[in-house]
Amino acid sequence: MTDHLTVVRHPLVQHKLTLMRDKHTSTAVFRQLLREISQLLAYEITDNLPMTSRRIETPLCAMDAPVLDGRKLALVSILRAGNGLLDGILELVPSARVGFIGLYRDEETLEPVQYYCKLPQQLDERLVIAVDPMLATGNSSAAAVDLLKAAGATNIRFLCLLAAPEGVRRMEEAHPDVPIVTAALDDRLNEVGYIVPGLGDAGDRMFGTQ
Ligand code: URA
Repeated sequence: MTDHLTVVRHPLVQHKLTLMRDKHTSTAVFRQLLREISQLLAYEITDNLPMTSRRIETPLCAMDAPVLDGRKLALVSILRAGNGLLDGILELVPSARVGFIGLYRDEETLEPVQYYCKLPQQLDERLVIAVDPMLATGNSSAAAVDLLKAAGATNIRFLCLLAAPEGVRRMEEAHPDVPIVTAALDDRLNEVGYIVPGLGDAGDRMFGTQ
């Protein structure tokens, strides 16, 4: 679509995503797949992090070896479905700082309503990765990024599992400076704001609710 959007077409990502889309996939397997896919997406979204070097000694000699530079990453989960992505990414980046933004979607207006916000300190000095599996209308994602910017974040990336063209457009208009990484760009939203073909309600599928 645009440079603003990266679709990760790696075969492992696409295979796992197909299993997740299948309505016959159990809650336990869905959750496990989400954990696995989140790590593959995190690998992509953390590409080109700033690096420095540290003097270490291998058993054979001293060397200047590459390490991550700067402050720890901030991962911000957009509740509640964001937590499914968060768990896997934290395994990969265990020292990341973690924030939560609680937004629910008003089922009539489809507009986001905030009910919780707790963010790490010094957001202005960190790469902030906001995570939410479904970029649907883009309204809650754009609202979450508004909150992050209001809290000082200037370097923000957005990680999702599935995106709808409507959501990508909304984010591009509201936050052209925030790159999006996703496993697939689906066809459209339906009349009640679900991504089609999608995978249904990500929160319900991962937590076994209805
Ligand atoms: N949220 C979901 O969980 N699924 C969708 O398809 C859209 C929004």
